[in-house]
Amino acid sequence: MKRKVLSTILAISMVATMVVGCGGGSTQTEAPAAEAPADDAAEASGDSAQAEAPAPVAADQEGGKIGVAMPTQSSERWIKDGGNMKEKLEALGYEVDLQYAEDDVQMQVSQIENMIASGAQCLVIASIDSGALVNVEAQAKEAGIPIIAYDRLLMDTDAVSYYASFDNEGVGTAIGEYIKTAKDLDAAQAAGESYTIEFFMGSPDDNNAVLLHRGVMGVLQPYLDDGTLVCKTGRTSFQDTCILRWSQETAQQWCENYLTGFYADEDLDIACTAFDGFAYGVKAALQGAGYTADNWPVVTGQDAELMACKNILDGTQTATIFKDTSLLADKCVTMVEAVMKGAEPEINDTTTYDNNVVVVPSYLCTPVAVDKDNLQAVVVDEANYYTAEELGL
Ligand code: GAL
Repeated sequence: MKRKVLSTILAISMVATMVVGCGGGSTQTEAPAAEAPADDAAEASGDSAQAEAPAPVAADQEGGKIGVAMPTQSSERWIKDGGNMKEKLEALGYEVDLQYAEDDVQMQVSQIENMIASGAQCLVIASIDSGALVNVEAQAKEAGIPIIAYDRLLMDTDAVSYYASFDNEGVGTAIGEYIKTAKDLDAAQAAGESYTIEFFMGSPDDNNAVLLHRGVMGVLQPYLDDGTLVCKTGRTSFQDTCILRWSQETAQQWCENYLTGFYADEDLDIACTAFDGFAYGVKAALQGAGYTADNWPVVTGQDAELMACKNILDGTQTATIFKDTSLLADKCVTMVEAVMKGAEPEINDTTTYDNNVVVVPSYLCTPVAVDKDNLQAVVVDEANYYTAEELGL
C-alpha cells in the first residue's frame, strides 16, 4: 500500500519534470510541438518544390568569407564539427567566422545576423531550433547569401541550397537493430520471455530526432506490441519521450524518476537513448540506484564521443552510433565550393529531406553501430577518429 502511494507521488512528480523537459520551462525559446516528419509532411501537402541549384556567388574569385553557425560547445561532437569545418575551409583559402550559440536560440539568430552584416558570402548552419531561423534565413536569401544546412535540416524555408547529414532514420534503425540483436528479441519472443525498456529521445525542435524515433520504432514496435518488450512507464511515443535541447540533465532526472517510480521491484533491462549525453545521464541514474555490472542494462547512444567510447570499454554504456564528423565536414565543404564556385557538390539523396517548402538536395553519410567488439576496428583503425592512446587501449 505504502509503496503504491509513493509510486503515485513519484509518477506525478515525474510527469511534471517531463513536461519541463520537453516543453521548455527555461529562458530559452519554447519548443514548438514536434514537427511532422519531413516526408510525412510532404505526403500530406504534396506541393513542396525541388530546391534549385543556386548560381555561384563568386565564380571568378579566390576565397571568400564563410559563416559557420554551430549549436553548442556543451557536447564534444559539435566542437569537433566546428573545428573540422574551419580547418577544411581555411585550407581551401576561405576566411571562416565560426560561432557557437550554447543552445540559446536568440543568440544563434543574432550570430547569423552578424555574419550577414559582416559580409559572409555563404552560411553553414547547424541549427538549435530551425523554426526560429526562418526570418534570418530570408534575410540571407535577399542578400544573395546561400545557406547550407549542416547535420540538422533547416525547416520551413526556401533559402537552403544543400543539406549534409547522416541517414537520420538509419541511425534509429541501427539503434533498434542493435537492441534486437543484443537481447535476441526473436528468441525471447519464441520463448514467451520479456525485457523491460525505456526511451530517451531527442529534441522536438530537431528534425533528426523525429526521424531517429521513427527508425527505432520501425524495429522495436512489433516487440512492444506483442509484449516481448515492456515499457513500464508507457512512454513510447515521440511526444512522450523527446527531451528538449538534448539535455543530459533531463535524461538523468527522468531515468532517476523511472527507476524509483516503476522499477523498484524489477530491473530495467534496456535504456534506449538517442544520444551519448543521455547515456551519461542514464549511467549516473543507474549508479545512484545501485545497478552494478551484474544487472546493468543495455544502454545505447549516438555520436561516439570520446567519453562514450571509454564508457563502452568499461561497460557502463553498451553501444553508440559512430558518425564520422570529419567525413560530414568533407561533404559539406564540397557544397560550399558548389555555391561559391559553381562546382559539382556530391549529392546522394534528392527525395527524402522535404523541409515543408522545398526538397533539399542532400548528402547522407552512413552511421555505424559500435560496441566493445568493433570499437577499435571501426573508430580507431579504420576511421582514425581517436587514437588507441586516447581510448586507453
Ligand atoms: C542531433 C544529431 C545527433 C546529436 C544530437 C545532440 O541533431 O543528429 O548526432 O549530436 O543532435 O547534439
